[in-house]
Amino acid sequence: MKKILVINGPNLNLLGLREPALYGAKNFKALEEFILSVAAELSLDVELFQSNHEGAIVDKIQAAYGLFDAILINPAAYTHTSVAILDALKAVALPTVEVHLTDISTREEFRQFSYISLYAQKTICGKGFDGYKEGLEYISRL
Ligand code: DQA
Repeated sequence: MKKILVINGPNLNLLGLREPALYGAKNFKALEEFILSVAAELSLDVELFQSNHEGAIVDKIQAAYGLFDAILINPAAYTHTSVAILDALKAVALPTVEVHLTDISTREEFRQFSYISLYAQKTICGKGFDGYKEGLEYISRL
């Protein structure tokens, strides 16, 4: 069974409360349950990790080396700022899918650049929770 690390970055823990017009009314627990149900359907062994801290995300990616087969990450705001997360992904060199709930290409200019896309094999934007499903399906086909 493939082992997948699913990382959610800062403020995603506030889903439901956070700008619901953009991110939807469902909360973070619902997202985690959705991810786990998709993983079960696809027979993937998923570990969930959420952090508001860049260094904690870097540590988790480093620790994934040798333990996981792939990473699915929504780096949230760090998408647009974090060379450190990009470098960690490049260092462990695991297949990586980047997911965003919203379509960052049509939002503010500062959201239109993603450091993570410089490494990720696939980026899925603007599909809400279903983007995580599409990402896991992509990984299961690898
Ligand atoms: C996000 C988009 C980012 O620009 C933002 O900072 C987030 C969430 C998304 O899922 O649409 O926190 O990654």
